[in-house]
Amino acid sequence: MARQLIINTLCCSRWTQLTLFLVTLLSHFTTTATYHSGAPHELLKGFNTAPDLSTSSFQTLLSDSVGNYSLGFLRVNQNQLSLAVIHVPSKEPLWIANTNKLARWSDQTRIIFDGSLVISDTHTGLFWSTYTDGDRVRISNTSNLLIEKVTGTISILWQSFQFPYNTLMENQNFTSAMKLVSSNAIYSMKLGSNFIGFYAKFNMNSSSDHDTVHGELYLKHNPLQAKARVFEGEGPIWVILNPDGYLGMYQNGSTPVDVQPFSTFQQPGLGNRRIRLEPDGNLIAYFWTGSSWVVDFKQISDPCELPSTCGSYGLCQPGKGCSCLDDRKEYISGSCEIPGNRKKVAGGDFCGLFDRKYRVLRKYGVELPYKEIMAYTRKSSLAKCESACEEVCTCWGAVYSNTSGFCYTIDYPIQTLVAVEDETKMGYFKVKEGGGKKKMVVWLGVGIGLLCGVVLIFLGVMGLFWKRAAREKRRYVEEEGVARGVGSYRDLGSTKLKALELSQTQSS
Ligand SMILES: *[C@@H]1O[C@H](CO)[C@@H](O)[C@H](O)[C@H]1NC(C)=O
Ligand SMILES: *[C@@H]1O[C@H](CO)[C@@H](O)[C@H](O)[C@H]1NC(C)=O
Ligand SMILES: *[C@@H]1O[C@H](CO)[C@@H](O)[C@H](O)[C@H]1NC(C)=O
Ligand SMILES: *[C@@H]1O[C@H](CO)[C@@H](O)[C@H](O)[C@H]1NC(C)=O
Ligand SMILES: *[C@@H]1O[C@H](CO)[C@@H](O)[C@H](O)[C@H]1NC(C)=O
Ligand SMILES: *[C@@H]1O[C@H](CO)[C@@H](O)[C@H](O)[C@H]1NC(C)=O
Repeated sequence: MARQLIINTLCCSRWTQLTLFLVTLLSHFTTTATYHSGAPHELLKGFNTAPDLSTSSFQTLLSDSVGNYSLGFLRVNQNQLSLAVIHVPSKEPLWIANTNKLARWSDQTRIIFDGSLVISDTHTGLFWSTYTDGDRVRISNTSNLLIEKVTGTISILWQSFQFPYNTLMENQNFTSAMKLVSSNAIYSMKLGSNFIGFYAKFNMNSSSDHDTVHGELYLKHNPLQAKARVFEGEGPIWVILNPDGYLGMYQNGSTPVDVQPFSTFQQPGLGNRRIRLEPDGNLIAYFWTGSSWVVDFKQISDPCELPSTCGSYGLCQPGKGCSCLDDRKEYISGSCEIPGNRKKVAGGDFCGLFDRKYRVLRKYGVELPYKEIMAYTRKSSLAKCESACEEVCTCWGAVYSNTSGFCYTIDYPIQTLVAVEDETKMGYFKVKEGGGKKKMVVWLGVGIGLLCGVVLIFLGVMGLFWKRAAREKRRYVEEEGVARGVGSYRDLGSTKLKALELSQTQSS
């Protein structure tokens, strides 16, 4: 009977497995992604939907009139969801709703249009909202997601072009109120009073407060042309990706004060361009050929000038590629760190109780990739520059030029340095030692474990003593009981004796 049951469950689980497999296979062929050409061109009030759980990458909700761009659910990290606008032929995300936290890929998550476009979760509540009172949602032919009021005239209440993600499209007005953020959230692009600024946030977890909001400035693009200068105090600047193939900077008119031309400059075609802040910190322009995106501009052309082209503690040799600051280490798959140890060096500083330990790494012939815009102090010797870093627990390293006396201190985990022929340029770098906090925690754990062990043994011994004492006490009580004649043995004996006596007397 029991055996039958087991066989039954076995066979059933087989069946379930097989069915599941078939279902997965089928769904794989039918619903991996839904890039419907028949998707609606507008969403009206009352729209309310949840993600289709069988969709594996992108689920279309809305498309522009020709089907170049779609709004939909983008599946990220397996079980999370972003509301995104993608370029349909290349599936490239161009815009993502900026939520603090990602919603779940679950039927509890809903996207609603009730005048506002809303992402909400039936359990945890509102994730994101446009807070508008519009009549319809649509996508323009340049991927701008619009919420419009349609009462006689059409007015735009909200547009995604005012809240960019990592991409700018043609004619999108990039103003000083906006920023682009790379998909890994490390790099950002923002306008200054007269420049385009590129920032890196290498230290998310520094205990120092002097970190700026945006992070380290690694590139400052100032207008190059002398004839049309930016006049500081004459109002803010803005930047537009021009359909003619250049990035223009404007101040108070339609004539650009700065032009960065692309290699496809003045090539005909409309709606074929985008520019994106990349996960390596570069700003790259792309041109759509009809079947693929080709690169036609890079803000930083030399990879060694990127802020972290060879990763943490990497060394970039112009024209040669990557190696490591530490000669004993090999540059493997984009990193100079031992796999698994990577997190340890990723952030923080040397200020915490458990973070003070480090070893020092020195290297000659190195400089910072963007030292021109970094603050420095003048020191009369390398030793003085080094001690300026050694004495400050938020400092990760220092680079010194023996000829100029410039001392650059680095307040974030060491990234990539550039190799130079000049041996008078020297670097001093702190390297986090051991497991740092983790090791201390482990030792603390071992300590507590040992203490617990000792206490347990002590308790055990005490317990044994107590048990023995208790047993002895019980025996004592028993013996006492016997002695006091509580038991019936003697009585019985005595009656027996009496009976014996009786029988004896009877027999006699
Ligand atoms: C871009 O935005 C700025 C600032 O809001 C504004 O002054 C300028 O007119 C806009 N330019 C275009 C072409 O829309
Ligand atoms: C733009 O700025 C220049 C330089 O200050 C000034 O001469 C010009 O009048 C300004 N134009 C407008 C339209 O404000
Ligand atoms: C988008 O549509 C507008 C008219 O609404 C038109 O002027 C423009 O050329 C179109 N752009 C593209 C890229 O098709
Ligand atoms: C947009 O669609 C048109 C027509 O299908 C196509 O020719 C064009 O290349 C598309 N543009 C982009 C950027 O995908
Ligand atoms: C920052 O701290 C959080 C939590 O303490 C941790 O999960 C994250 O990995 C840290 N980031 C870096 C870059 O160290
Ligand atoms: C640095 O400069 C000083 C004097 O300017 C010189 O004595 C010293 O040898 C130099 N050190 C190196 C490593 O070049």
